[in-house]
Parts: sequence; C-alpha cells; structure tokens
Amino acid sequence: MRILVTGASGTLGSHVVRLLAAPHGPPGVEVHALSRAERPSADGVIWHRGDLATGEGIAGAAAGMDVIVHCASDARRPKGELSAARTLVEAARANGSPRLVYISIVGVDRIPFGYYQAKYAVERYIENGGLPYAVLRTTQFHDFPAMILEALAKVPGVLPVPAGLRVQPIDAGEVAARLVELALAPGAAGRAEDMGGPETFTFAELARSYLAATGRRRVLLPLRIPGRAMRGFRAGHNLAPGHVAGERTWREFLGRRK
Ligand SMILES: NC(=O)c1ccc[n+]([C@@H]2O[C@H](COP(=O)([O-])OP(=O)(O)OC[C@H]3O[C@@H](n4cnc5c(N)ncnc54)[C@H](OP(=O)(O)O)[C@@H]3O)[C@@H](O)[C@H]2O)c1
Repeated sequence: MRILVTGASGTLGSHVVRLLAAPHGPPGVEVHALSRAERPSADGVIWHRGDLATGEGIAGAAAGMDVIVHCASDARRPKGELSAARTLVEAARANGSPRLVYISIVGVDRIPFGYYQAKYAVERYIENGGLPYAVLRTTQFHDFPAMILEALAKVPGVLPVPAGLRVQPIDAGEVAARLVELALAPGAAGRAEDMGGPETFTFAELARSYLAATGRRRVLLPLRIPGRAMRGFRAGHNLAPGHVAGERTWREFLGRRK
C-alpha cells in the first residue's frame, strides 16, 4: 500500500509519517511524504517536493498512491485551502482512485472564522469529490495554544488572554494515530467521529500552567475580543465535550517540553 502524507514536515504530518514508517509500524506500507522543500529520502520515507499553491510537483507526488493523508495547510492563507485540495484531488484522480483522509477542526461548520470556513469548504468538496474519503475533526493540538502563549509571553509584564475562550487541547500524536487507522482501514469511513482532548480549560488556566511550567511571571490581562468568530469560540463551538478521545494531558505535554 502506497500512502502519501501531505504536510509531512508539520506538527501533525510528522507524527503520521513517524508512525507509518516506524520499524514496528504497519507492514506492507510504502511511505511517501510531501514538502515544498527538497528533503532526502531516508528511514523508510520517500520525500517528494511539491507545492499545492502552484501545483508544481503534485502530479508526480500523487501518482500511483492508494491513500493520501492530507495534512498540508497554511492558516495564514485561508483562501488557498480549497484550491490546494482541488489541486491534490485532481492530481490524484488523474492517476487512480486513492482514498483521501482529511484532517479538519471541530467547529468549522459553526464558527464564522475565515480559516474555519475554508476548511469547511474543503470538507464539502472532498465529500462530493468522487474519491473514497475519511474526514476527521479534532480540537486544537497542545502545540497550538503553546505556540500562541510562547509568542504572547515574549512581552514582559502582562500577558493578554481572550476572555471567555475555552480550549480542549489534544495530543497531535494521538490524532496522528487515528489518522493512520483511517488511512489503513479499507473502504471509506466518511465523517469519522470527532476527537477532543481529555480536559477543557479556560485560556487563562492554560496561560497560568504554561507560565508556571516555563518559570515565568506575568499578570494576565483578560481581553474581550469582538466579532462573530470570537462569539462562536466563546459559545464553545470549538469544543467536543461528547467526544473525549485523547488521553495525554496538557500537563504531560508541558512536562515533555521542558
Ligand atoms: N494545529 C491545531 O491545533 C489543529 C487542530 C485540528 C486540526 N488541525 C489541522 O491539521 C492540519 C495540520 O496542522 P499542523 O498544525 O500540523 O500544521 P503545520 O505544523 O503548520 O504544518 C503545515 C504543513 O503544511 C505544509 N504546507 C503549507 N503550505 C503548503 C503548500 N502550499 N504546499 C505543500 N505543503 C504545504 C507545510 O510543509 P512544508 O513547509 O514542508 O512545505 C507544513 O508541513 C491542518 O489542516 C490543520 O487545519 C490543526
């Protein structure tokens, strides 16, 4: 079975590649990985250089694949999300009928935030795209609030926290393991059951534990961010309380980062 992972150098994609190519990983899998950068093939991973924004290299990378796990994304350019998926699906269809596994986010259908709307459009495109597919929505990875807090904590003194925002972070490795299951399962799962992290925190709670774990002191400054998107987040549409699936906690994640 030949599996291509897009976004294979990213937070999630690198876990997917690691699990697929592990010495005791699934047998009979040829692991292919996509990046815009030139990377030497090694450790059981065949790298392809390709850009989903321009289409360069995508036909060659997608040719002959049985499964494509689509993790590539650029949140700073939400408008490119759908055209990237189109480029990928069209290249895949020109060369066969691989199963497509797409990672999405809990709340993309309910929160009017540009990046989420773009991901929801991709979900619908894939559902109607004619290829067998699985779509998995999860809550935010631990890495995401950690990255935001790292940036906010660069400023000394105060740390702004969005008032009323709650987060249910999940381990990216556990999400990757589920994507691998979906990639290996025969047939099409369609919309898989959502996955949420084991605990829900206010952003202020996350900030406090992050500051304690990294040995910094800041005064938290609650900010009420206006707009419909933030109202959607404050309403908790980014949470999956009925779908707690992850086991690794935020504290374990912070402990591993030390
Ligand atoms: N982060 C979260 O909390 C979270 C939660 C739920 C779902 N998700 C979804 O999970 C997916 C992966 O997220 P992540 O946090 O792992 O992202 P990430 O670390 O930012 O990685 C994104 C990857 O996309 C690739 N990429 C970007 N533009 C590309 C292009 N034009 N052509 C080809 N590759 C391109 C990059 O590869 P190169 O730079 O090597 O080309 C990079 O490896 C996204 O779809 C995201 O929406 C994320």
